[in-house]
Amino acid sequence: MEDFNNKILKIRKNWKYKRQGQDYTPFIHDKIKFNINYYLTRVALFFKFDSALILDADDLGTSVALKAIGFNDKNIHIPNYYDKKTEYRAMKQHLKNIAAFPISIDDYVDAIIDSKSTQSFRAELKEKYNDTAFDTKPRLIDPLPSKPNPFNFIYMDYCNEYQSNKETIKKIFNSNILSEEYVFALTGSLMLKSKEYINKLLKTIEKDVKKMSKTPVKIDQVFVYKRYHQEGLATQTIQHKDVEVGDIHSTKVGMFMFFISFISSKDLENYNDEFEVCTDGLCKTDIQNKQCLFHMKEQAEIKPFCNNRITDFYLLISPMERSLKNAREIIKDFELPYKNKTPDFLVRINREKNWSNGILKTFNSSDVEMLNIKKIINSTTQEFINHQVYNIILKKKDI
Ligand SMILES: C[S@@+](CC[C@H](N)C(=O)[O-])C[C@H]1O[C@@H](n2cnc3c(N)ncnc32)[C@H](O)[C@@H]1O
Repeated sequence: MEDFNNKILKIRKNWKYKRQGQDYTPFIHDKIKFNINYYLTRVALFFKFDSALILDADDLGTSVALKAIGFNDKNIHIPNYYDKKTEYRAMKQHLKNIAAFPISIDDYVDAIIDSKSTQSFRAELKEKYNDTAFDTKPRLIDPLPSKPNPFNFIYMDYCNEYQSNKETIKKIFNSNILSEEYVFALTGSLMLKSKEYINKLLKTIEKDVKKMSKTPVKIDQVFVYKRYHQEGLATQTIQHKDVEVGDIHSTKVGMFMFFISFISSKDLENYNDEFEVCTDGLCKTDIQNKQCLFHMKEQAEIKPFCNNRITDFYLLISPMERSLKNAREIIKDFELPYKNKTPDFLVRINREKNWSNGILKTFNSSDVEMLNIKKIINSTTQEFINHQVYNIILKKKDI
């Protein structure tokens, strides 16, 4: 992930864009989006997808991710128009050859459907552009997009409700702009946030997509998150310093969003083998785990990106010696919310795994149980826990 992030920083060198305000660096900003884009690039790499239709913003978050894994700029199609505004010019200034165009996605899809060649496609695009009302009409910049091959990578990263975009989605599935094998990912806002409402909406989308798809399709991931005040580096996994804010069930402010993805491929089973299995099948497809976006398990350091859930929890013992006495001393401060919580167990697994003195990793690394940070915090009176949760990454002792 670090390597991927560095490639993106290199592509974006000297760019200027809106989300890069005073209090952001590209590293830190919008790390949930970063994790989603990272995840989608793993899908694209696995299935060798190479032709994308996406929604992107002026900093080209998704495009640079795709470019970092080798997508050709010309094969990244980005209609961009919302509320009489477009970020088209900034996009073209950043990546000249990107297939961006300042019209709505709905118009863009129509232009593809109604054309047979690049020439007629461009004529359609221009006609739609002429009919579009802008606050400030942007000048078109060459090269204009060419007529795309059927897309195998679609990421409709909307910020509004599913209902508003349903018809466009239907149009995509009803046309022949989608290839036989594909990933289709979608985001949207959740205006009401009761557990029942969220689950029902996600189930409805799943049902709709399965019905609309011409080829068999399966749900891939479901992830519900809040975008408010994300902190920490893009490559870290904990979303919020204030865990209460990050909790999708808390009453604190924040816009709720969902991400849902689907994959249609004969190779899906092999892909799914790369992911952790939980009690009821694959962790990533279980709606109960919707606070987490799961990453492939092949690299040990890549963990699911979760709201308030972690897979590793460490206790620091002082004095710095890993003894039963010290373990007992620290563990009694926590009502640890998982099965193996005896000091003897902790000391034993830490010996087996060879963790440094001074650190107790609290459960077996092969265990996929996820811990709720809020529960951990609530279980102790010690104030330092807030900070420890944030700086959760501790190094394994060099063997
Ligand atoms: C959430 S941003 C994309 C972020 C990007 N995918 C990332 O990961 O960094 C969505 C962009 O799509 C534009 N947009 C929203 N609805 C659209 C529509 N119906 N047609 C075209 N563009 C749209 C928005 O104005 C915005 O620039």
